[in-house]
Amino acid sequence: MSRQTPSDATASTAFWRSLTGMPSTPPAGDPVPPDGALPPGALEELGSVPLSFYLHVPFCAVRCGYCDFNTYSPDQVDTDAVAVWARAAHAEIDLARRVLGPRAPRPATVFVGGGTPTLVPSHLLTGLLDHLRDVFGLDPDAEVTTEANPETITPALLHGLLDAGFTRLSLGMQSSVPHVLRVLDRVHTPGRALEAARQARAAGFGDVSLDLIYGTPGESMADWAESLDAALSVAPDHLSAYALIIEDGTALAGRIRRGQVPAPDDDDLADKYLATEAALTGAGFEWYEVSNWSRGPHHRSRHNLAYWRGHNWWGIGPGAHSHVGGVRWWNVRHPRRYGALLSDGRSPGEGREVLDAGERRVERVLLELRISDGLPVGVLTASERERIAGLAGDDLLHTVDGPDGPRLVLTLRGRLLADAVVRRLLD
Ligand SMILES: C[S@@+](CC[C@H](N)C(=O)[O-])C[C@H]1O[C@@H](n2cnc3c(N)ncnc32)[C@H](O)[C@@H]1O
Ligand code: SF4
Repeated sequence: MSRQTPSDATASTAFWRSLTGMPSTPPAGDPVPPDGALPPGALEELGSVPLSFYLHVPFCAVRCGYCDFNTYSPDQVDTDAVAVWARAAHAEIDLARRVLGPRAPRPATVFVGGGTPTLVPSHLLTGLLDHLRDVFGLDPDAEVTTEANPETITPALLHGLLDAGFTRLSLGMQSSVPHVLRVLDRVHTPGRALEAARQARAAGFGDVSLDLIYGTPGESMADWAESLDAALSVAPDHLSAYALIIEDGTALAGRIRRGQVPAPDDDDLADKYLATEAALTGAGFEWYEVSNWSRGPHHRSRHNLAYWRGHNWWGIGPGAHSHVGGVRWWNVRHPRRYGALLSDGRSPGEGREVLDAGERRVERVLLELRISDGLPVGVLTASERERIAGLAGDDLLHTVDGPDGPRLVLTLRGRLLADAVVRRLLD
C-alpha cells in the first residue's frame, strides 16, 4: 500500500461527516412511520448505552464555497424560518421522549452544530437546551458543545452560552492564511478566530476547540505550518484537522472542474497530516481519532467519541441523522418541510435503515479502529485475527492491552491508510 492510495484522513473525514453530518444525497432507506416508532428490539439496549443529542441549526449568513452541509442563507428561506425551526425542534425533542420512553438515560453529551448556531438569537439555543433538560434531564457532568463561526463571537454571547450551561466551544478557524481563507470563501480575517478563542477562554470556557482544514488549493506546506502555529498560539484544548473534501455541486468543485484552481493532491494531504501530528504532538496534544487531537484524555470530545463508539444519539433538526440500537434514520432536509411535519404531529424522519448483527459488527470495526483506544480483538472473526500479524508487520497497527483484552490501534502509517487497513482486515 503506497501513499498514492487516496488519503485516508480524507476518507475518514468523509465517513465521519456521513455519520453525523448531512451528506447532500441521503441514502435510500425504508420509510419512517408517522409516529417515529422504532422497530422492536431497538430500545432494548437503551438503558445500558449512553445517549447523546445533536441539534442541527441549518442557517448561515453566506455559504462557503467548499461546504455542502444542509444549511441555508437568508435569501433561501422564508423570513420566519428561524422561528419555525425553533418551534419544530422543541416538538422533535418531545417526539424523542415519546419514542424513547421512560427507559432513556439522561443525555451524556449535547452538540449544537450547523450551519452557524451562533447566528440564531442565543435565547433560542438556550430555550432548546432548557427544553432538552426539562424533558430528558442532563447528566450532571454532561458535555454541552456549540459550534461557532469566529465572526459571530462577542463577550456577551459567550457569557450567555456559559450561563445557559454550554461547557465547550468549537470554533471554525480553518486557516490563518489570508489567501487560503479567500479560496475557502471564509468571511472572517485570520486574526478573528484567534481573538474569539482568547475571548472564550477569558469568559470562562474550559474547553475550547478549533477546526482547521488542510489541502486547500494554493496552500503550501509553509501556509499549513503557519495555520498550525497560529492555532497553537492560543492554547486550545482540542483541535480537529480535516483534509479538504471536494464535494460535488459546490462552488469550489466547479472552480476545480473549470481548471481555475488545482484539485487537492493525495501526497500533499498525507505530508500535511504528518506535519499536523508532529506539530501537535510537539505541543503536548495526543490524537484520539484520526482527525482529532486533545490536550490529554479529559479534553477529548465525548460527543465525537459517542459517534465513533456506536452509542445512541438523536439528531434534532432538518437533515439530522440519528442512531438508536442499530437503527439509523435521517430527517427531511428542508426547514419548511421539517417544520410542517412536526406541526402536524408527525415524525420528520425521511428514511431509515435497520442494521443486522453482521452489519453492526463491520461498522464497529470501521469506527473503533479509527480511535486511539482501539478495537477489541474479540470483535474479530478467527480468519480476521489471522491477518493481524501481517498488518502489524507492515507497520499499520499494533496490539495494546485493553480492559477487555487485547485491542488493535493504528500506527501513524496506519492512520494515513485507515480504510485500506480495514479492507485488509475484514473477511
Ligand atoms: C459544518 S461546519 C460548521 C462549523 C461552522 N459553521 C464553521 O464553518 O465555522 C463543521 C466543520 O466541518 C469542516 N468542513 C466543512 N466542510 C468541509 C469540507 N468540504 N472538507 C473538509 N472539512 C469540512 C470545517 O472544518 C467546519 O469547521
Ligand atoms: S459557515 Fe460553516 S456550515 Fe456555513 S457554509 Fe461555511 S462551513 Fe458550511
